[in-house]
Amino acid sequence: MATPRGPRGGGVRRSGSGSGRPPVAPFRRRLLAWYERERRDLPWRGTREPYPVWISEVLLQQTTVAVGVPRWKAFLARFPDLESLAAASPTEVLAAWSGLGYYARARNLHRAARLVASRGSFPRSARELSALPGIGPYTAAAIASICFDEPVAVVDGNVVRVISRLLALPAVAARGADRETVRAEATALLSPSRPGDFNQALMELGATVCLPRSPRCGACPVAAWCAAHADGREEAFPLPAPRKPSRRLTLAAGVAWRGGRLVLVPDRHLVPGHLVVPLVVPERGESPAEALARGWSGVAGRRCVAAVPRGTVSHAVLDRRYTVVVLDVVEGARAPEGPSRPRLVAPDGLTSVPRGGLLGKVLALSGPPGRAPRGAARRRPRGG
Ligand code: ADE
Repeated sequence: MATPRGPRGGGVRRSGSGSGRPPVAPFRRRLLAWYERERRDLPWRGTREPYPVWISEVLLQQTTVAVGVPRWKAFLARFPDLESLAAASPTEVLAAWSGLGYYARARNLHRAARLVASRGSFPRSARELSALPGIGPYTAAAIASICFDEPVAVVDGNVVRVISRLLALPAVAARGADRETVRAEATALLSPSRPGDFNQALMELGATVCLPRSPRCGACPVAAWCAAHADGREEAFPLPAPRKPSRRLTLAAGVAWRGGRLVLVPDRHLVPGHLVVPLVVPERGESPAEALARGWSGVAGRRCVAAVPRGTVSHAVLDRRYTVVVLDVVEGARAPEGPSRPRLVAPDGLTSVPRGGLLGKVLALSGPPGRAPRGAARRRPRGG
């Protein structure tokens, strides 16, 4: 329930304008002072160089700050500057992105790095930045405001939540028209002299105080102007997006070792460009073991003599939800119809191949890499 609120904390008052908008100058002052005091010490906040800031913003669209910080450090250690990223191969970039998901981002990052490197300088305006592959309005506004002081508002999920609560806007975060309404409101509030800090402060507020559930309104520097808070209806904003039904699919995943090396093949199901253990889609009425017995030779180039179930993992890629049944495969003779030769990778080489999160889940189930499943490694394939 709402607690009645009056002016507090050194003179913050409702605008009294009747518009429901906070008074702009005090709002900016409060928010920026809070940001200076409370902001998290994130490694990319020590720089205004566009390359590291760009990498941080792309990573944070993908993952949490807790995961993003070590991944940012590792990415910057691997590709310290734009030129090194541009000079890398697509496979190297995908390998550095492994496990983060949404691999189109990594491909676009790489393509954009090549374009910027050939252009010779980093674009400075949000308009020019958004012409690069993978750089949408959010990333363009973040880079342009943080690195080049362009007064352009960023709108991410956190900003939608903060602004929709502040103004009691019935916005749906994922709806384009509602995002534009939020953008217009955020633009009206944006500090023209410190746009980068202001944008980051709004995002920071959303990430650390104005939380989706149980927001910490007692710690909010602008709660006195928050319309949702005044009504005790913080969690009613933003409006929930209508749920899109996800596609559900089942896969049989076979784990086989040849001479202590894991059988991997190019991924044709989840993320093209990755390597993964051989996957077969069970046909109607077929068990996962039967599916592997049928499809293994076509994918892995040898017969499947036995497939022993080890368990099931769930995995999601975009709107697809996979149930992956993991089986240890005992291989037999080389199969004449086998297509490409699979890649055989020793356990200590697994971290340098481009791979998604599924491979780790599969190997966690079927035993640590390096320890071949019982029977499989020692068994000599007949005629293979
Ligand atoms: N979320 C994504 N980018 C951010 C930033 N620069 N500051 C705060 N939160 C963020």
